[in-house]
Amino acid sequence: MTDPAFQQCINPACGATYGIDEIRVSCDRCGSLLDIRYDWSRLPAPRSLSFFEHRWNTKGTGTTGQLDFSGVWRFRELLPFYRSEDQIVTIGEGRTVLQTADLLAKQMGVKHGNLLLQYEGLNPSGSFKDNGMTAAFTHARMVGAEKVACASTGNTSASLAMFASLAEMQGVVFIGSGKISIGKLSQALDYGALTLQIQGDFDDCLRRVRQIALDPKNGLYLMNSVNPFRLEGQKSIMYRILEARDWQSPDWIIVPGGNLGNCSAFGKAFIEMRELGLIKKIPRLAVINAAGANTLHRLFNQSKLTWSEGRFDATVIQKHYATMDESAWVAQTIASAIEIGRPVNLPKALRALHVMNGVVREVSDDEILEHRAMVARWGFGCEPASAASVAGLRKLLDEQIISPSETVVCILTGHELKDPNATVKYHTGIDMKAVQDLAPRTDPHGRLSNKPVPVEDDLDSILRAMERDRTAGSQSR
Ligand code: F0G
Repeated sequence: MTDPAFQQCINPACGATYGIDEIRVSCDRCGSLLDIRYDWSRLPAPRSLSFFEHRWNTKGTGTTGQLDFSGVWRFRELLPFYRSEDQIVTIGEGRTVLQTADLLAKQMGVKHGNLLLQYEGLNPSGSFKDNGMTAAFTHARMVGAEKVACASTGNTSASLAMFASLAEMQGVVFIGSGKISIGKLSQALDYGALTLQIQGDFDDCLRRVRQIALDPKNGLYLMNSVNPFRLEGQKSIMYRILEARDWQSPDWIIVPGGNLGNCSAFGKAFIEMRELGLIKKIPRLAVINAAGANTLHRLFNQSKLTWSEGRFDATVIQKHYATMDESAWVAQTIASAIEIGRPVNLPKALRALHVMNGVVREVSDDEILEHRAMVARWGFGCEPASAASVAGLRKLLDEQIISPSETVVCILTGHELKDPNATVKYHTGIDMKAVQDLAPRTDPHGRLSNKPVPVEDDLDSILRAMERDRTAGSQSR
């Protein structure tokens, strides 16, 4: 490899490498996931994390100022895959804070000062996804992509649509019909993405968009978290937590698990910081599934699937999916953001659990809703999926796996206003979604109106819908 940054298959028995300018989301040779890797000896890697402090005073003007302003790119020496700084697509993402949640800690029975909430809902599109999109859009710009796409439970599509409009690329989002919350749908429409409402769920959407992106003639750059560049940006959530704690690791990081990109990124951040000698202690990881979308929980706790230095038993996963298909099991949870049955980053999540001595738990919808309400009542709003982290903390405290004297960071992945229906229903019993479905419809007539396009879960129908949109030459996109 001539570049100090390259892509590499995570399967140690394969280890194939690919150039940094290549567009792929899996290994050609063996089909495994890819990592972005760095030859640190050829890069100006920092010698200590305090190196980044000199950027704290920079104003957000000029390229360097804008990069220093971003909560992702102020750590750019730890994700140096780009060739020049002016290729970076940034809008000031990642300026989020680690909040000490003492009132909530009291309710949870955690020692004063020990419960911290990493408030990722403060991102420009209202979720942690912006951390990853800024990196993936930077790569998309490096390779000259014009059309970008994703499948989504809502937040990825909102973030993609926002970045696509700013980067002047065409955004196409695949969402399960009726599966995403109103706040997130409104964002995708408003930012002008072609919004395909597929008759199916997230897993169906992801299968379709991957299928379409695989054929180069469709010219679609895939923005889901199978894209390894997304995870490079999401590593920065860990850097910011360390930064807020004077570069000291907490005892625990707790994160909701859906497609398992976030926890995978966290594991990679710590693997690299350890490689570079930047940290002494790696925190423990808890990944929390919703009980109705608990593939990781079942495989990790019941089937005892572990990373095994990359030689994990893939047949266990295949058998699990075959059983799911036989019983027509589909993921189902009120936390629509994590309603995912076939998490694509599963192998990387196993690696993160290994490196961070992790645990996995599942929580019920009732537990999620109660803890979401508690997070809001004691000062910090979040959407249902995010509260899985706090509900998971409750479980781990009850099991005495986490002690009240340990320092715990729960990641609040998305803003409270993403899913106002869930909140209103919790407090009033009124299901606004049902009311909306009954409401009479009138055709929108705004100059920039951008209606979602309903489509069968069928390759030809989807391609036809995309072609219709292209030939209509929608002025708003
Ligand atoms: N929390 C929220 C609010 C999310 O939107 C997601 C994922 C997760 C947690 C889970 O993160 O997939 O990295 O394990 N949302 C994706 C989407 C799948 O399409 O918006 P993960």
